[in-house]
Amino acid sequence: MNPSTWITFLIVIIFPYSHGYLNLYLNLREVQRLLGLEAELYYVRDGSVNQYALNFVVPVPSKIDSLQFTWENLAGYPLPYSIDVTANSAALYPPQLNISATGNVPRSSQIFSISLPCTGLAAAEVMITININISVSHNNLTSLVLKRRKICTKLEKVPSSRVLIDSMPSYSKSTNIFYFAVGTAAVMIIILALFVILFYVRNKKDKRTVEYNNRPTSSFLTTMPRNTVSSTYNESCRSVPSYSLLDERSKDLQERIAELTVQRCRVRLSSVVMEGTFGRVYLGSYTTENAKEETVIIKTVSDHASQVQISLLLQEGMSMYSLNHKNVLSILRVSIEDHTAPFLLFPYKNTKNLKMFLQKCKLSPEGVSHTLTTQEVVDMALQVIHGIQYLHKKHLLHKDLATRNCVVDDKLKIQIADNALSRDLFPSDYHCLGDNENRPVKWLAIESLLHKTFSTNSDIWAFGVLLWELTTLAQQPYIEIDPFEMAAYLKDGYRLAQPINCPDELFAVMAYCWAMSADERPTLTQLQVCLQEFYTQLTRYV
Ligand SMILES: *[C@@H]1O[C@H](CO)[C@@H](O)[C@H](O)[C@H]1NC(C)=O
Ligand SMILES: *[C@@H]1O[C@H](CO)[C@@H](O)[C@H](O)[C@H]1NC(C)=O
Ligand SMILES: *[C@@H]1O[C@H](CO)[C@@H](O)[C@H](O)[C@H]1NC(C)=O
Repeated sequence: MNPSTWITFLIVIIFPYSHGYLNLYLNLREVQRLLGLEAELYYVRDGSVNQYALNFVVPVPSKIDSLQFTWENLAGYPLPYSIDVTANSAALYPPQLNISATGNVPRSSQIFSISLPCTGLAAAEVMITININISVSHNNLTSLVLKRRKICTKLEKVPSSRVLIDSMPSYSKSTNIFYFAVGTAAVMIIILALFVILFYVRNKKDKRTVEYNNRPTSSFLTTMPRNTVSSTYNESCRSVPSYSLLDERSKDLQERIAELTVQRCRVRLSSVVMEGTFGRVYLGSYTTENAKEETVIIKTVSDHASQVQISLLLQEGMSMYSLNHKNVLSILRVSIEDHTAPFLLFPYKNTKNLKMFLQKCKLSPEGVSHTLTTQEVVDMALQVIHGIQYLHKKHLLHKDLATRNCVVDDKLKIQIADNALSRDLFPSDYHCLGDNENRPVKWLAIESLLHKTFSTNSDIWAFGVLLWELTTLAQQPYIEIDPFEMAAYLKDGYRLAQPINCPDELFAVMAYCWAMSADERPTLTQLQVCLQEFYTQLTRYV
């Protein structure tokens, strides 16, 4: 189970009834802040200890520098406690408590906090152990051990291009960092997204009066107004996973949603196709205006998803709004109803997620599933090229091209889709490099990784990785490379190796896409010509 699944799991745990003597929990605000969920998280409820919750090591993003706990004595007699917080790392100053180290648990609910300021001297993932002993009576001691994993980043005085390299933690060789990155990813994106929703909500509220204020500058759904861009907007919002929309085609999110909206009663969910921590993909149907029933794929989030996750789903899901190309999956309808998660409807023609389709090809015993020929792989690659060509013509950068964000049908027709829910459904494809930003690190062009710049050429790089995925039946790229080391690895000139059975011609195309300098990468037209030629060659001998 990944950490986010744990969180949800342990929040819903039902405590056995008992005559309690103590509550110790994280209140709504704290859970929202740390985990992005709307719930309280009890470590001890009415005296019952939630071992699951205690065992869960909560990641603490670098931005959060204090922890808060709420506790309360229910016993009616004094409960002496002793508390001790340990953290040994040069990256962190000694943690400070705002209650005394020993005393009695207060009779009425009290919040205490532990401050965790990073020194900024080193980047590290610091394990913090909080030990609380409560003597219920003589020879009855409740000993609670809580763990936190605090992320500290190194403060930089050098230009941002060096940050990635410099902030590599000293223990980065350890595989722990991998799990750490994956594990914190969900949390990071939630925190990040909080800013997005803030702006989304505010934007909605102010819409009548302030036409363009407070718009996130790089949110993919936003036209960039030439004159404004107010900058109360937090730094980290740059990292909003995004498409750039540069043309006048765009309308704002509300207008788009209004245009596509369909009543909930006309949508029916039939089966779950994919399930993440909060993301859900269903197969279902929707009744059109003229009473026709259409099968659709429905992307939504579960009931425990936060506002942030809902907002992100909407924003990312709407990114392929009003596009019309056979190799692009455009959103069909949206159904929003108060107090429930929105449904995003996409056309369904027996389509499956491409990454999952490829992995199935690999796992199935011979003959049962489809085995892909080189010719088919090249044909799929060409279709992706056509899709990207169309997007770029519409002045849209995809920024997250990968097999996980494509769908395929029975006839191997490919469509490029948006990346809504992908972080949740494919958590191991996204990594956080200690900067609260959950990115598809292993698909990113060197300049996107280092400087967060995107261009048509960075989409080409990602296409190269996608092609590699096609030829390996969706193996994980650079599986042995620590995400923190990717930038250095690429800078040193290393790239993905030629997959077994991958023809030289095809590998040459990929390798070409990964040219260090963006201008040296092939154009889409060049790629198309090249792949088309290879395709023709292949058919000639069949
Ligand atoms: C709590 O009790 C355990 C075992 O009884 C002991 O090892 C630990 O040091 C105690 N911690 C505190 C903070 O008193
Ligand atoms: C400790 O700090 C928190 C937040 O800073 C505050 O809400 C709480 O009341 C403080 N508790 C005590 C006992 O001072
Ligand atoms: C300790 O005290 C609590 C509260 O009275 C009780 O529920 C629990 O069973 C006791 N534990 C032991 C080991 O005696």
